[in-house]
Order: sequence, then structure tokens, then C-alpha cells
Amino acid sequence: MSVFKDSGHLFRLAALYAVGTLTFLGIRAFFVPRSFGQYGHYRGAAIAEIAAHPVHYAGHQACETCHADVQEMKRSGMHAQVNCEACHGPLAKHADDPSIQPAKLDTAVLCVRCHAASAARPKGFPQVAAVDHSNGLPCETCHQPHNPAIGAGGAK
Ligand code: HEC
Ligand code: HEC
Ligand code: HEC
Ligand code: HEC
Repeated sequence: MSVFKDSGHLFRLAALYAVGTLTFLGIRAFFVPRSFGQYGHYRGAAIAEIAAHPVHYAGHQACETCHADVQEMKRSGMHAQVNCEACHGPLAKHADDPSIQPAKLDTAVLCVRCHAASAARPKGFPQVAAVDHSNGLPCETCHQPHNPAIGAGGAK
């Protein structure tokens, strides 16, 4: 048939396309990890790998079950929304085994991390120029860390 007289280039093109597709599938099979797509558009095995990481933070609910007295003091003050481990650092090991004592905190370092006067903080956020404000005394001399108004004359 005259229509297919010069059709050789079509078959060559189709063959080239087929070889390209097979090469792509081959390379793809080699590089895409086995568990990809098991649950969604990611590597399914990644879930088990991430879950195997050690836990560092216990979460405030854990702290509150054993330190209800601290929680009681904290909840009526301005630090009610500041989580235990935001100040005490990751303590999952202590929560699992209380005989592992948490490190003592140094308020001269801790408190200014959030309260040092800085133009970058929101205006309404309580901040102080620590040296003038505390006269070199540790912050907890005048502020109970869990309820900072206590000790500074503003006890609630
Ligand atoms: C299973 C109970 C338990 C859990 C959970 C727990 N603790 Fe403790 N914690 C204790 C015990 C018991 C002590 C030692 C006795 C004490 O000083 O109250 C202690 C001591 C501490 C101390 C030192 C007290 C001191 O006198 O120096 C800090 C700080 C502390 N815990 C913070 C935390 C934080 C923060 C969490 C949450 C991440 C937490 N704990 C979770 C039982 C627990
Ligand atoms: C704003 C920072 C801050 C937060 C939030 C905070 N703490 Fe503390 N906590 C301190 C400081 C500072 C001390 C005194 C120094 C030390 O013991 O390391 C302290 C001391 C403690 C102590 C020793 C005994 C005592 O009452 O002084 C325990 C127990 C404790 N914290 C538990 C907790 C728990 C549980 C939470 C959460 C419910 C919590 N803390 C939240 C800063 C904080
Ligand atoms: C992780 C950040 C963080 C740390 C660390 C921290 N605070 Fe605070 N503090 C806050 C937040 C948040 C508030 C509540 C601010 C608000 O509601 O406007 C607050 C409120 C206060 C207030 C109340 C101010 C007022 O207007 O009555 C005082 C005082 C205070 N903190 C002192 C301290 C002292 C002392 C320490 C160290 C023991 C400390 N803070 C550590 C976050 C922090
Ligand atoms: C000699 C006692 C004393 C010491 C030490 C001290 N404070 Fe205060 N602080 C006060 C008093 C008093 C107030 C005012 C009380 C109030 O408004 O409830 C205050 C208020 C604050 C406020 C609230 C400021 C505002 O604009 O609302 C912050 C934040 C604060 N102090 C942080 C600290 C930090 C951080 C340290 C340690 C570097 C510290 N204080 C040490 C006595 C002290």
C-alpha cells in the first residue's frame, strides 16, 4: 500500500521511543526504593526508621503526673503556657527513670533567653535589661520560676 511506502522512519521512531521507555523504567526500578508508595508518595520504610529514633522529650503531661505540685503552682501564673521541657530541657530519660536526676538550671542563663530586652521581641512581651533589673542577683531570688509573679510582689 502506498501509504506505508515510506513508513520506515515511523518504525525507527517507535523503536527509539520503546528503547527510551524501557531504559527509563530500568533506571527507575534501580533507583526508587522498594517501599516507595507503600502508604503514599514517600518511602514506607521511613516510618519505621523515624520511629526507631530515641525519644528525648517526655511531654508536659508526663511531668504533671508526678509533679502535680509544680503544675498546680504553674497553672495560675504567667508561665502556665510555658512547657516544662522548654526550661528543663529534654527529660524523657528522667521521666522513664526518676532516679536519673535532671541537671540544675542556671536562671542567669535560662530566663534571659526569653526575657532579655530586645527590639526583635513583640512590644507587649515582658522583657528586662537583666543587669540593671536584677542588680546581679539570680532571677529566682525574686521570682518563683514556676509562677514568676510570686516573690516579686505580684503573687496571685
Ligand atoms: C515517674 C514520675 C516522674 C516523672 C514522669 C517526672 N519526674 Fe521529675 N522527679 C521525680 C522524682 C521522684 C524526683 C526526685 C524527688 C524530687 O525531688 O521531687 C524528681 C525530680 C525532678 C527534678 C529535680 C528536683 C530537685 O529537687 O532538684 C526536676 C527539675 C524534675 N523532676 C522535673 C521533671 C520534668 C520536667 C518532668 C517531665 C519531663 C519530670 N520531672 C517527670 C519523678 C518524676
Ligand atoms: C520558666 C521555666 C520553667 C518552667 C516552665 C518549669 N520549670 Fe521547673 N524549675 C525551673 C527553675 C529555674 C528551677 C530551679 C532551678 C532548678 O531546680 O533547676 C526549677 C525547679 C524545678 C523543680 C525542683 C523543685 C522545685 O519545685 O523548685 C522541679 C521538680 C521542677 N522544676 C519541675 C517542673 C515541672 C514538672 C514543670 C512543668 C509542669 C516545670 N518544672 C516547668 C524553671 C522552670
Ligand atoms: C521559654 C521561654 C521562657 C523562659 C525560659 C522564661 N519565661 Fe518568663 N515568660 C514567658 C512567657 C511566654 C510569659 C508570658 C508572657 C505573656 O503572656 O505575655 C512569661 C512571663 C513572665 C513574667 C511575667 C511578667 C508580667 O508581666 O507579669 C515574669 C516576671 C517572668 N516571665 C520571669 C521569668 C523568669 C524569672 C524566668 C527564669 C526562671 C523566666 N521568666 C523564664 C516565657 C519564658
Ligand atoms: C531584686 C528582685 C528581682 C530580681 C533579682 C529580678 N527581678 Fe524581675 N521583677 C522584680 C519586680 C519587683 C518586678 C515587678 C513585679 C511585677 O510587675 O509583677 C519584676 C518584673 C519582671 C518582669 C516583667 C517586666 C514587665 O515589663 O512586665 C520580667 C520579665 C522579669 N522581672 C524578669 C527577670 C529576670 C529575667 C531576672 C533575672 C535576670 C529578674 N527578673 C530578676 C524583681 C526582681
